Amino acid sequence: MNTDHELPAILGGKPAVELKNTDTWPLLGKSEEEAVLKVIREGNISTHPIIRQLEEDYKSYTGAKYALAHNNGTSGLLAAFFALDLQPDDEILVPSATFWASALPMLWLGLIPVFCDSESETLGICPKSIEKNISAKTKAIVVVHLWGVPCNMEEILRLAKKYNLKIIEDASHAHGATWNGQQCGTIGDIGVLSLQGDKLAPAGEGGILLTNEYKYYERAICLGDITRIIELETPQRRFAATSFGIKTRIAPVSAAIGIEQLKKLNQHNKIRNDNIIYLSQKLETLGFNTYLSQGNKQRTYFEFYISYDENKIQIPMTQLIEALRQEGCEVAPPRYVLLHQQPFFTEGHFKKILRSALADSQLPDYSKVKLPNIERQGNFIKLPSFTSSNTALLDQYAKAFSKVVNNVPKILAANQSFAVIAE
Ligand SMILES: Cc1ncc(COP(=O)(O)O)c(C=O)c1O
Repeated sequence: MNTDHELPAILGGKPAVELKNTDTWPLLGKSEEEAVLKVIREGNISTHPIIRQLEEDYKSYTGAKYALAHNNGTSGLLAAFFALDLQPDDEILVPSATFWASALPMLWLGLIPVFCDSESETLGICPKSIEKNISAKTKAIVVVHLWGVPCNMEEILRLAKKYNLKIIEDASHAHGATWNGQQCGTIGDIGVLSLQGDKLAPAGEGGILLTNEYKYYERAICLGDITRIIELETPQRRFAATSFGIKTRIAPVSAAIGIEQLKKLNQHNKIRNDNIIYLSQKLETLGFNTYLSQGNKQRTYFEFYISYDENKIQIPMTQLIEALRQEGCEVAPPRYVLLHQQPFFTEGHFKKILRSALADSQLPDYSKVKLPNIERQGNFIKLPSFTSSNTALLDQYAKAFSKVVNNVPKILAANQSFAVIAE
């Protein structure tokens, strides 16, 4: 495909993407409708046994010994931090490049997030940064398989063993992704998957906590699953009348949707994978990094992000995005901000919820945190997740990128003259 001579749409040419992207998500159909109606007809809309079915299904899909359903991934993560039974002011290493729920729930337990840098290859927490940030108070590492890319688990497991640290895996983006043949969410001590509506196996609102250790499962139950505490046959049953103060049970209607979506997960993942890998291979030849699966890390695509090095494709991200939009591409800048740079941390608001015995002056000053690798990696572009097959549309996207990349000097020159006129 020689598109060098085709005029980019931003310079007055014909847009490359003529087909309409008709993909939708989540893909809900008759089976979800019937499953929800069954719950409603049976009338038990709070404690219906379908919740246990969801847990059984996650156990058999992932291979985890225990699964506990939650009302969302955030409460699953709170339960995971609670399950570790740490002391206030213990520290937990966590990537800055993630959704806030990977970190913030720990504050309610007095645990202090120590933000780490991310690796360029996997976009996950960087082992070198982990080692650099370990202190006498470090007790655990949060691993997030960002956008569905499995982290560098070889190194992370090695460091966890060396420094006696627990691993909480936030696999909210990585349903079905594997490392060494093991499902993401089952590699560390505790794993959590969000089932929120955008996720790969959505339930509306929901979360699943996975673990192979009974003690973690039991403590997660004690935090807020009042139906289960009463069933415990250990001394923990004495918390049945109170829990530890919150309520984390999933709604059966969500569980019903979650079960049907889990049945379809592999098929849904296959469609996304086939489409995105097809387009990724074309974008790689143009110089983009598309985070394809590597070796023993088999990724899935919660979202499709690519990045590029501005020394190689010499156009600022905002201008590249604008040129691609003019071609008809649905592209956007990154959705997540870096947590360590957020006012909640830099202005000290986190202290309002942190249950800490330390004086203010001993608490972290997040405004001084510097994470050079992830701070530098600004050139990310979000593409659609291509949830239905449509090779013709993918070819048009590839053509759009090719037209823009092959005409960067002309686009920049036109932008410059436009800027001069505008002045
Ligand atoms: C990485 C990550 N962790 C945790 C969560 C929290 O999950 P939920 O929205 O189900 O509470 C999300 C949700 O978007 C997420 O993206």
